[in-house]
Amino acid sequence: MTTTDIPMNSQPAQTMQRLEEDIRKCEAAEAELTRRNLELTELNARLSMAQQQLMQQEKLASIGQLAAGVAHEINNPIGYVFSNFETLGTYIGRMLAMFKLYQDAEDSIADPAVRAALRVERETADLEFLIEDIPVLMSESREGITRVRKIVQDLKDFSRVDANQEWQWANLHAGIDSTLNIVSNEVKYKADVVKEYGQIPDIECQPSHINQVIMNIVINGAHAISGERGKITIRTGCDPTHVWIEIADTGSGIPLEIQSRIFDPFFTTKPIGSGTGLGLSLSYGIIQKHGGQIEVRSAPGCGTTFRITLPIRRAAEQEA
Ligand SMILES: Nc1ncnc2c1ncn2[C@@H]1O[C@H](COP(=O)(O)OP(=O)(O)O)[C@@H](O)[C@H]1O
Ligand SMILES: [Mg+2]
Repeated sequence: MTTTDIPMNSQPAQTMQRLEEDIRKCEAAEAELTRRNLELTELNARLSMAQQQLMQQEKLASIGQLAAGVAHEINNPIGYVFSNFETLGTYIGRMLAMFKLYQDAEDSIADPAVRAALRVERETADLEFLIEDIPVLMSESREGITRVRKIVQDLKDFSRVDANQEWQWANLHAGIDSTLNIVSNEVKYKADVVKEYGQIPDIECQPSHINQVIMNIVINGAHAISGERGKITIRTGCDPTHVWIEIADTGSGIPLEIQSRIFDPFFTTKPIGSGTGLGLSLSYGIIQKHGGQIEVRSAPGCGTTFRITLPIRRAAEQEA
């Protein structure tokens, strides 16, 4: 009698088969659960990241308002310090000229006691040195005040938060210049900034938002430059209906396979804590709202160029 002849054996075999099938199903279900769990964990992480980013945005917005407020407060005193300083410069110039005349006239004074007293006083004060040093001090101080005025103006331009005036005719070059001043600390140790401005008309835009875009792209450019000193070139130009801005860096470049993802929210190749992955996605949104376009050209090792095209006049659909 061979084993195949025993009918009793078929029942355990079937049971085994069913059991194995059940186990397979269980395993599949478990795998599915694990997958979903992973998905949920990832979603959760994204949500908490989104919340952090929103908080960060909120913080930045309030810092912007604070900066605008402080700039406004400083603007007034620095205005009169600057104007008084100019007048003071003129007065001191006249006084120094008078001193010179007095000094020359010293020998013609008949009374020897007066002459001697004047000489002692002149030598103690070191009038020669004062006459030489005062104009230098004045000129350095004027430069300092001018710089403070410029910073205040840049801060004001940059953080213009007046909602009613958001859409306005503005000169992009002025915006780019003030933005470059604001980010100069991030850029100056890594790259030289070269401006190749063309002739462009004012455009109808939200200047502070455009500044934000320029800032994001320039800072990304600086981040991409490591090792030897690089260059960030900003070019502008126009055609009859549009203005374009190109920002080119000599940094690492962007691999082709991630170029389509750099505008995605939260896409970043930077270590956790240093990249938000929001800069380009926000910029994309801003340019879209302007009815414009933002494109990237890049190759690893050959740097990156962002090109922004903006309509000169706001299109009807943007007016809502
Ligand atoms: N100029 C650039 N050179 C190289 N890579 C860039 C450049 N600009 C953007 N990227 C890439 O795009 C990603 C997304 O940029 P962004 O949205 O500004 O976020 P983040 O700067 O926080 O990473 C960066 O992490 C980087 O990988
Ligand atoms: Mg960025």
